[in-house]
Amino acid sequence: MAYVVTVDGKAAAAAPGETLLELLRRGGWQLDAPCGGQGRCGKCRVLVDGKECLACQTVVDRDMAVQLPHETAERILTGGKAGAVVPDGTDRYVLAIDVGTTTLVCYLLDGHTGATLATASAGNPQRQYGADLISRLQYVRSTGDKSLKTSCWDTLERLARQTAAEAGIALTDITGVSVVGNSGMHHLLLGISPESLCTPPYNPQVLDALELPAGDYLPLAPGAWLRVLPNIGGFVGADTVGCLSAENFDQVEDWTLLLDIGTNGEMVLGKGEKRMACSTAAGPAFEGARIACGMHGAEGAIDHVRLENGDIRCSVIGGGRAAGICGSGVLDAVAALLKLGVIAPNGRLRVQEALAGRYGEDKRSFILQDAVYLSQKDVREVQLAKSAIRTGVDFLAREMGVGISDIRRVILAGAFGNYMRPESACAIGMLPPELLEKITAVGNAAGEGAKRCALSRAEFRRSTELARGTTFLELATLPDFQSQYLKNLDFPK
Ligand code: FES
Repeated sequence: MAYVVTVDGKAAAAAPGETLLELLRRGGWQLDAPCGGQGRCGKCRVLVDGKECLACQTVVDRDMAVQLPHETAERILTGGKAGAVVPDGTDRYVLAIDVGTTTLVCYLLDGHTGATLATASAGNPQRQYGADLISRLQYVRSTGDKSLKTSCWDTLERLARQTAAEAGIALTDITGVSVVGNSGMHHLLLGISPESLCTPPYNPQVLDALELPAGDYLPLAPGAWLRVLPNIGGFVGADTVGCLSAENFDQVEDWTLLLDIGTNGEMVLGKGEKRMACSTAAGPAFEGARIACGMHGAEGAIDHVRLENGDIRCSVIGGGRAAGICGSGVLDAVAALLKLGVIAPNGRLRVQEALAGRYGEDKRSFILQDAVYLSQKDVREVQLAKSAIRTGVDFLAREMGVGISDIRRVILAGAFGNYMRPESACAIGMLPPELLEKITAVGNAAGEGAKRCALSRAEFRRSTELARGTTFLELATLPDFQSQYLKNLDFPK
């Protein structure tokens, strides 16, 4: 006999031996599962018959009533700055889509003027299968589950409908769409086997730009096209190519570093036609995952921390009680605690008598505000993430024969780069201090690149030149990668 699970008042029958998380995924309910259901992150909490449980660790063994956590509006970066492109003018309405590991953004554009008519965004529903890309790819590789692809397209269709409704048109008035995403998102979205991304040397199976019939994915106008930007190599994918397009990176006259920090750190260093890219496994710490009180940048998240009279002060999105901490808050908190001597250069938490009241009982955590704290393990996660990024920057510069001080401009693309404080990034050694005054955040540059390629076939063609003209550096093959990575784990003294 199948057990009946009532989720927020709606009933579903459980399959034998199924966990609550599996049932929720199957039924289309959204619940973040940052560790992919391994019982390690403690973030998939739900109420079962009024009692708190981890959905991934709860096997449905009776009828039960489940209450999902209250949803808070997530802060999703949709704006960006990019040079204008001359639209072809052949299509009246086109879509541009940015598929991020964490969020999805859909823009409806006027194909004649290039204006953005409407924008809609949502969390990536694949988050139910893990916060980081690798665990999702491995899940698909081992199970062949198609729902990561279908759930993503279902959400994109909903977003596309939302933009069309806002502009007062039908979905079938739209005659083209362009898509960007990292190599993993690219493969999951198109149903390409992730095998090659899961095994050394971790290269995408498909690098080339693709032009496909959109009707296989979204119910747009008959004959509508789908342009997918090319991948560069490894996890440096079409989203980075979108950033290169938006920034006209083949025309920069001084050494410029482009950084997009998410669960992977993707970066490109270039000047004119010389470009090299690499990706570093930064992990999801700066997305608020794998952090004890981590959360996305939503209401209740501590998003910034500053020093005041020898103590810290936190700002909370929405201004109410702190419910957790997001990536920019984590970065600031570590920078502030380093300055206060609460964190030693080797990453150990130290007790400072003047702040004794702020420590947890075992002295292995530091309370930031309300019940939100930073633990010793959190600091270790930040060390891994910041070292990965710094090591990528160091090696790109070395392989291009460029001194750090020769870099004239640092472009930060993406949500974390937009909200983080550059001072904190330099204070913890994630970026070299010489770069502090050269940093500019450009918002969702990948989305801007997608827009340009939706509006102009010439720009879409140029995306292939941008990708093929960029040398991919596989960091793991460098003999001294490991030693440099270990060296960069410490914070600056
Ligand atoms: S503990 Fe359940 S998803 Fe991580």
